[in-house]
Amino acid sequence: MALHDWHSAWRAALYGPKGFFAGGARPADHFRTSPLVGPELAEAVVVLLDRVDMALDRPNPLDFVDVGAGGGELAAQVFARSERFGGRLRVRAVELTRPELPAGVEWSSELPDQVTGLVIAHEWLDSLPCRVVQMHGQRTVEVEVATDGTESLGDPVSSPWLDAWWPLAAEGQRAEIGSGRDAAWADLVSRVVAGAALAVDYGHFLASRPFAGSLTGYRHGRQVPPVPDGSCDITAHVAFDSVRAVAPGELLTQREALAALGIAGDQPAAGLALTDPAAWMAATARAGRVAELRDSAGLGGFHWLLCPRNAPISLVRA
Ligand SMILES: C[S@@+](CC[C@H](N)C(=O)[O-])C[C@H]1O[C@@H](n2cnc3c(N)ncnc32)[C@H](O)[C@@H]1O
Repeated sequence: MALHDWHSAWRAALYGPKGFFAGGARPADHFRTSPLVGPELAEAVVVLLDRVDMALDRPNPLDFVDVGAGGGELAAQVFARSERFGGRLRVRAVELTRPELPAGVEWSSELPDQVTGLVIAHEWLDSLPCRVVQMHGQRTVEVEVATDGTESLGDPVSSPWLDAWWPLAAEGQRAEIGSGRDAAWADLVSRVVAGAALAVDYGHFLASRPFAGSLTGYRHGRQVPPVPDGSCDITAHVAFDSVRAVAPGELLTQREALAALGIAGDQPAAGLALTDPAAWMAATARAGRVAELRDSAGLGGFHWLLCPRNAPISLVRA
């Protein structure tokens, strides 16, 4: 069976003609992301969008672009809150195949040339393919893979990105080379004429890279070996320090970002259960969803990187 570097194999497995996402796999069927928890992430995004709108002096149109929109859940939830922008909000979902979207939400398979407003890449960077390398005999070598998942070690690799961001030192240590993701982020940020770009994803930093890398697969809600045959999602954590070096920005955990944007999920007062049981149940369910979004060991540990462009926009300052 032919061997390929991981970048080529991963790209074909997700985005090739028979690829997982190109074939229309819906993320919601395979893994849980914050937009799928409930509307609270969209509420937070709309608070941020309000700040963008004010900083830009209420442009018309005000863009909200969801890149790698998956099933379009976040775009739809933001659109549902568009009334406050008085008909100026233009919501676009960028996804390879058209998701089911409410009338009024635009779809494109291409990144927009120009954005005046907010562009979000929610769990997009982690889905961008990387080369995988391994330390072997005191050299860094390519890890090659066949479509059945069989791996072999290939030629030596030299990479300035690795030297700077993920130097390997010990036999068997692995890394995913993130230079392509940095370039993708730089490209996305550069398309924002005025406003901000927000990346939300799981990630790691120089001081705590995983020894064996973070490449993995997901299928039907389960973590599975990353076999590049188009049958599963393939993903790896984002090296957020290298992405952050691309453009100035604020970096918070999701837990911190939600607090900064005023998303609270307090448990309702016990007495409410007696006076208004339906309201108590709704508030209790909301508190559970917010707790899931804020859980530091889960979604709350995700990173939010906000890069403002030509406008003073901040997560921590209203
Ligand atoms: C991990 S999923 C995240 C989906 C959604 N944002 C969420 O958080 O639920 C990544 C998505 O990015 C999409 N994607 C990757 N590269 C893309 C590109 N160049 N253009 C449009 N969509 C892309 C994939 O098809 C996939 O649906």
